[in-house]
Amino acid sequence: SIYSRIIATGSALPERVVSNADLEKIVDTSDEWIRSRTGIRQRHIAAEGQTTGDLAFLAAQRALEAAGVKASELDLIVVGTTTPDIIFPSTACLVQHRLGANGCAAFDVNAACSGFMYALGIADKFIKSGQSKKVLVIGAETLTRMIDWNERETCVLFGDGAGAVVLEASGEPGIHATCMHADGGYKELLWNPVGVSAGFRDEPNHGVRIKMAGREVFKVAVKTLDSLVDETLQAAGMHESDIDWLIPHQANLRIIEATAKRLQMPMDRVIVTVDQHANTSSGSVPLALDYAVRSGKVQRGQNLLLEAFGGGFTWASALLRY
Ligand code: ACO
Repeated sequence: SIYSRIIATGSALPERVVSNADLEKIVDTSDEWIRSRTGIRQRHIAAEGQTTGDLAFLAAQRALEAAGVKASELDLIVVGTTTPDIIFPSTACLVQHRLGANGCAAFDVNAACSGFMYALGIADKFIKSGQSKKVLVIGAETLTRMIDWNERETCVLFGDGAGAVVLEASGEPGIHATCMHADGGYKELLWNPVGVSAGFRDEPNHGVRIKMAGREVFKVAVKTLDSLVDETLQAAGMHESDIDWLIPHQANLRIIEATAKRLQMPMDRVIVTVDQHANTSSGSVPLALDYAVRSGKVQRGQNLLLEAFGGGFTWASALLRY
């Protein structure tokens, strides 16, 4: 049977770093509050004019280079993003043209913070079905463009960035299992309430802003991720002790710690980048994966559990042999 395998990773972060101390000058907050509630110390913020597609392109170039794969060899590009450059063409199409992969299938997936995990699950199915051989999967966001910098409850939580992986068809696993879920009943706990069809508002940033009931999101996220890891282990026919690394969505260190506890994994087997990147939504898991690979933590042959939870709500995972 055919499996999909990650052959290389890449990532990109904007140059500008904004520390918690910098935010203290803008809103009534403190480094102490931000670190103790979330684990975040700093975030990267895109320069004016720097788009999601720019970051996605850089991350993709780095992943292709590490893979030794030419853009022209790709037969599919999937981008997980909730902050596309423009409404259409999709960011995947914009990146495809810049890479010179013209002609292959390309589309975006919007599953909020779970965007990359959804994109990876979809790409895995394309390879398993025999439809695709080499796929570029990207998670990229400029979420800070949605932030109301007067609102301390949300502005301290997010950053910008992108990560990418090159997937290839292989006779060996590879991805053992992926899981995907959504519950639209939770729409109003974490959302951005305007858009093309619903209309924009006569408000700052046309009403584009993240609205979040933090405490409720936290509770549902922890509970949902617990059952997601159970389901993923079962789907892969594995046990907690088979997992070498947990690479979770980087929204909040306390959520990450809760999932690690459920898996009986010590924190030194968990990749944490939320302190450096904050929550980059769809960018977070592939950024953390690329960091883990390039720092030499994750080694070939190890089993990785990737998971994310976000607006929708959506939640998704993958258990794979790297
Ligand atoms: N600085 C200082 N004080 C603040 C700040 C801030 N930046 N933000 C809120 N506060 C205050 C509140 O006003 C409140 O004050 P009050 O007690 O006088 O009313 C107090 O801090 C406590 O607020 P809570 O919201 O109850 O704090 P909590 O401990 O729940 O932490 C947080 C908030 C960090 C948002 C947490 O709930 C959380 O992480 N939730 C998960 C949601 C999440 O991760 N969202 C990211 C996007 S979703 C995703 O990717 C999963």
